[in-house]
Amino acid sequence: MILFSVKPVFIAIVFSLSLFLAVVLLSPYTDFLSLSSSFSVSPTGESEIWSVRRMVEWRPCKWWLQGHLTPLPAKSNGYIRVDCYGGLNQMRRDLCDGVGIARLLNATLVLPKFEVAAYWNESSGFADVFDVDYFIQQMDGFVKVVKELPLEISSKEPFHVDCSKRKGQFDYVQSVLPSLLEHHYISLTPAMSQRRDRYPQYAKAALCQACYNALRLTKSLETKASELLEAIPKPFLSLHLRFEPDMVAYSQCEYEGLSPSSMQAIEAARGDRKPWTGELARIWRKRGKCPLTPNETALILQALSIPTNTNIYLAAGDGLMEIEGLTSVYTNVVTKSALLTGEDFTSMHGNTKAALDYYVSINSDSYMATYFGNMDKMVAAMRAFRGLYKTLFLSRKAFAELTYQGLDGKELMQELWKVHRDDFAMGRGSALPDCFCEFKL
Ligand SMILES: *[C@@H]1O[C@H](CO)[C@@H](O)[C@H](O)[C@H]1NC(C)=O
Ligand SMILES: *[C@@H]1O[C@H](CO)[C@@H](O)[C@H](O)[C@H]1NC(C)=O
Ligand SMILES: *[C@@H]1O[C@H](CO)[C@@H](O)[C@H](O)[C@H]1NC(C)=O
Repeated sequence: MILFSVKPVFIAIVFSLSLFLAVVLLSPYTDFLSLSSSFSVSPTGESEIWSVRRMVEWRPCKWWLQGHLTPLPAKSNGYIRVDCYGGLNQMRRDLCDGVGIARLLNATLVLPKFEVAAYWNESSGFADVFDVDYFIQQMDGFVKVVKELPLEISSKEPFHVDCSKRKGQFDYVQSVLPSLLEHHYISLTPAMSQRRDRYPQYAKAALCQACYNALRLTKSLETKASELLEAIPKPFLSLHLRFEPDMVAYSQCEYEGLSPSSMQAIEAARGDRKPWTGELARIWRKRGKCPLTPNETALILQALSIPTNTNIYLAAGDGLMEIEGLTSVYTNVVTKSALLTGEDFTSMHGNTKAALDYYVSINSDSYMATYFGNMDKMVAAMRAFRGLYKTLFLSRKAFAELTYQGLDGKELMQELWKVHRDDFAMGRGSALPDCFCEFKL
């Protein structure tokens, strides 16, 4: 992390110096102090991380928003339904990929299927979460979408093509088009990690449009979400904290100083996944694999000069452990369960809660995440899309490296500040490069 960050920082400094010179030469009213001080704020200084001068901003790429779209083919190669599984944001990611694939194959898109994980105990499909008519309207010209299949096909079940387990690079045209042409109607589960940079631009544009410019919550969900947003004291930071027993168990990390009840909950969730020990645990942690505890999160927030009286909305699921580690330092923390009426909350499904967190987080003044999961990627990109730049991912890796170096107290805070200052200045992680382009400021 430290080694890697040297080069961008150097470039950033050279860049900022030349920018500075340009400003000095062009403007008689240059404020020398405000430009030069932004790189020398100390963790105990007054300036928040957000006042750091940014070098890079991510914006939607021109070829997507302003590009001249390739006309849709006169003849469709068949119908594709995208089948999505997992959490709300994972389903959304798969939907985006599926739309890109449908366009790549010159196919017509049927409304996606949102298969809801059993643990959610609900039956929320695509139309229960997202505004279908808006989706169809926004995809106009990008890909053809139909609500209803033609009669001769609608009686059939689609032929299922599962790409979710496929690894590495493979060609959707080669591997999926033949099934589409043969069966006329297929359902598709996209691959988990497929690079899209080889797609023709019109297919990439369809993906981007679907993901970031065509999904709007249903009216009733949006009403609920805006009520929640309304109830949060302003201005506020939306904090996506992940420290639930299952995710800690899954991480295979071990923690010291947790309460007995947290330890029990983690043990119960472990199953076969034993935590790493000794040198392996060290390496694992240094690679940034271990979730930050609420306590560690509070320390990093302080290192970033986020005032302890900041209004914080906890964008998190139920079952966060050790939350006192945060709330004992940051005293203005609010949660969904406290802001929504009890009845509302208990009858609410997992999908709905995830949608609320998403909505609040793309409308908050600032957003920080202790993790880089599907929700975080989606929220960061949507914030970039909307021109909200106060987005930051707390570095688990830097935290581990610095604490292993034996740093603590003010020294640790100072180093944490530097790492995050550079990340923020360079816009690291604040949008996915698939649909967003770097813009030098
Ligand atoms: C899709 O249509 C375009 C022309 O509109 C064509 O160039 C491309 O080869 C077609 N792809 C497939 C998979 O049919
Ligand atoms: C699932 O829903 C049913 C009926 O609404 C309810 O009785 C049951 O307790 C729920 N299960 C869980 C795990 O929430
Ligand atoms: C975190 O926990 C340690 C002890 O477990 C405590 O000394 C420290 O003050 C805590 N830090 C914060 C920010 O709560």
